[in-house]
This record gives sequence, structure tokens and C-alpha cells, in this order.
Amino acid sequence: MANIDYSEKIPNNVDLASDRKLQRALEEWQPNFLQWWQEMGPDGFQQDQIYLRTAVSVDRDGWAHFGHVKMPDYRWGIFLTPGDENRLIHFGDHLGTKAWDQVPGEYRNMLRRIIVTQGDTEPASVEQQRRLGHTAPSLYDMRNLFQVNVEEGRHLWAMVYLLHKYFGRDGREEAEALLERRSGDPDSPRILGAFNEPCTDWLSFFCFTTFTDRDGKYQLRALSESGFDPLARTTEFMLTEEAHHMFVGKTGVERILQRTARLAKGGDVLNQGGIPFEMVQRAVNFWYSVSLDLFGGEDSSNAATFFGAGLKGRDREMEQAEHSGLNETFKLEKFAPDGTMTVEELPLRRAMNEVLREAYVKDCDKVVKSWNRALEAEGTDFRLTLPHKRFHRAQGVYAGLHFDPQGRFVTPDEWEKRKDDWIVNDRDRDVLANLMTEAVVKPGEFAGWIAPPPRGIDGQPLDFEYVKFHSGSPYAE
Ligand SMILES: [Fe+2]
Ligand SMILES: [Fe+2]
Repeated sequence: MANIDYSEKIPNNVDLASDRKLQRALEEWQPNFLQWWQEMGPDGFQQDQIYLRTAVSVDRDGWAHFGHVKMPDYRWGIFLTPGDENRLIHFGDHLGTKAWDQVPGEYRNMLRRIIVTQGDTEPASVEQQRRLGHTAPSLYDMRNLFQVNVEEGRHLWAMVYLLHKYFGRDGREEAEALLERRSGDPDSPRILGAFNEPCTDWLSFFCFTTFTDRDGKYQLRALSESGFDPLARTTEFMLTEEAHHMFVGKTGVERILQRTARLAKGGDVLNQGGIPFEMVQRAVNFWYSVSLDLFGGEDSSNAATFFGAGLKGRDREMEQAEHSGLNETFKLEKFAPDGTMTVEELPLRRAMNEVLREAYVKDCDKVVKSWNRALEAEGTDFRLTLPHKRFHRAQGVYAGLHFDPQGRFVTPDEWEKRKDDWIVNDRDRDVLANLMTEAVVKPGEFAGWIAPPPRGIDGQPLDFEYVKFHSGSPYAE
């Protein structure tokens, strides 16, 4: 079952052929997906050959196969990690009972909502990134962007499979709606805030894949603990793909920092076509804080219900000391509009969003530390910092209040005065737009604001032709 059948119209390892009705429903959705991809996927590169990896098996050792493919010909499919027949639910009220292979009636609406919310983020990010190809700093980076994009498309397939297979007509309608909402559209936006933010420059793209895709990692980890077994098995395979997206982000920011450090030794960074350190810090502050919002409110009855029902666990639930979530409390710091702080003690289940957010914060902290090691290796004094989790929040108990990057309460006036120092401002956007006016398409060449990576993809050299343009392309020689 681990091997993927590519002779099928829809590649899969779930024996789709044995369920004719489901197969037909998905085959009807497929052309709509492809139409969405043509309309909203990478703009202007659909006929080019991209050096992409495709999953051939969900096993750890043999899952990637590399080759030049046109993106619309990418084999999007349905891949689940193999199941364990005897798997038990390991947290919440159903602790110790057999995991579900069908949707329990009483949790049907909640599960559908969880799956739709996750599913909605996948096409949203493709939409946000659709024009970035035209300003790619190299063929290597362009290829990485498109790899991320096709995999987000596959994550959409993963969620749509669950909707079609387990949620009947409602599920099919939700699957259609996933292709109808549009990132940033005032009338029909994507469900979550960060997925409606414009991502029009590569500094934003690298911050997005570092911080927003990492939110995805933690949501998927929490869902991979689910008592609903098909959801657990689907998200587990998605996590292996997600790792590459975060690699693209983390190394992208690191290469910008390296380049800036080298330019700084010769004088003004901006004058030499580089991205100043402070601008990188402001982009980090922005994308990190909007990604923190994705975890939802600190005190949440939904989070309590999802955990109690066994639908969504904690990060690495198995390693937690206690799995009912009923015997502990969580101390939440709250602020009155005048800045007075109080500490409220919440039942742990109500704080599950915050527990997951804390795991995410720790992970982000490691990333920033590793960027700072790279800065140290360049012999520069500048260090990046991760802002406080209260900074620039639009969801939860800190929304509507203002805090500086260190988490200190500030007045609305003070915020207005300082915010352009703290988060990406209009001037930054102008500067970035002027730095990134065209794609660098000569194999082995890189834009002046980013250092080359230490090695290529799949053992290929840096001057490998990661993208082969079709003869009518404006980028073809
Ligand atoms: Fe994804
Ligand atoms: Fe991702």
C-alpha cells in the first residue's frame, strides 16, 4: 500500500479504483482543480519544464523522484501513510478506545470545519505567491517556489479526498468552495488572516515559508494525533512535504543575511543593492506575528472541545505526561486597556491553542538562533530577535492592545509613532519592489541581494537548468 499507483488518472495509494463512486466524484473535481491551477497558479510559467520532485512512495527512503515536468502535468494525488489496524485514541475523553475509521456522527460538523480550514490555506498560499516567479533571484529559487506551489496543490487534494470520502454531499460542496474563495478578495476571502496578506516580494516569501508554513507544521502535527484515523494518516504524509517548504524559507532568509553582511563591509547596503538588516527584522516581525494569530484565541472553548473529543491533540501528544488534559491549568497573562496585567488560571483544555502556539514559538526561536549563528560566522554584530508573542496580534486576548517587540504594553499613540520601525512599512515595500524588478534566469547566476546556496537540489550543481523555458517564453534565450 505504500507504493503509489501512477497508472491511474488520480495517482493514489488508497486503492481508489475499488470505490467507483468516490473515484468518479474526484475525477469530476479534477478538471475544476486544474482550471483553478491555470487561473490562480504560477502566472506565466505553466508551459515551462520545472525540475520537480514527485512522491513515488510514502516510505521514508524512497519517496522522491526528480525530473523536468510542466506544472499542469504534475501528478497530484492521494497519499496516506499506512495505517495501524489496532491504533487507539490516545488523548481526551475517548482515551484508550479504538481510533475511528469513519466520522463519528456527533463530531461530523467539527471535523468538517477542521478539514475545511486546513484545506483552505493550501490553495490560498499558491494564490499569494502566484507572481513571484517573475522576480525570482535565480533558477534554483524559482524551482523551489514552484515545488512549494505544486505541493500546496497536493495538500489541497489531501483535504479534498477526506471531504469527498467521508462527508457526502456537504463534503463535495465544501471541496468546490475551496476552489472558489480567493486570497485577498474582499467579497470571498480565504478563511484565515495571514492567507489574505499580499506576498509580493521574495523577502516576504522566505518569511512566509519560514513562519506561516511552520504554523502549518504545528497544525498538521496536532491533526496527525487525531482519533479520526484517515485524518491522522493524511496529515502525517503532508508533514514530510512541509519540511521542504520550511527549508526554503529558512535558508532563503539566511542567504539574504549572508549577502547583507558581506555588502555591509563595503558601506551602505541599500546603495549596493542589498536588503538592510533592519528591513529583514521588520519582515520577520510581521510574518511571525500574523502567523501566531493562526493558532486562534488563547482561551478557546473550541480548542477544549476538539481536544476532549480526540479530534486534535497537542504537539507530540504521546510524549506528554498526562493525556486527559483535565488535571492541569494554564496561567494566561491578560491586559486591561490601561495596561494593568492580571494572571488568569485556565483549565488546560481551554488553553490548547496556546499550548500548541508555545511549541511553535520554541521552534521559531531555534530558527532565529541558527540565523544568528550564520551572522556570527559572517563576522557581523547584527542579531535578529523574535518579537514577543503579544506583539502585533489581531486574534485572541492581545488583539486591540499594543505591545512593543519586547512585549511591553504601549499606548496607541506610541504604537502609531513607532510601528514603522517595527513592522514592514510602505517604504520597505517600495525598496523591495525596486530591488526585485526581474527574474534572474541565467543558470548559476543570483540576484545581488542574496547569496548563492551552498549546494543545489538533488545533488545537481548550482548552474543546473532547474527551469527550462519553452520557446515562446520571454525568458527563453
Ligand atoms: Fe501545505
Ligand atoms: Fe507548506
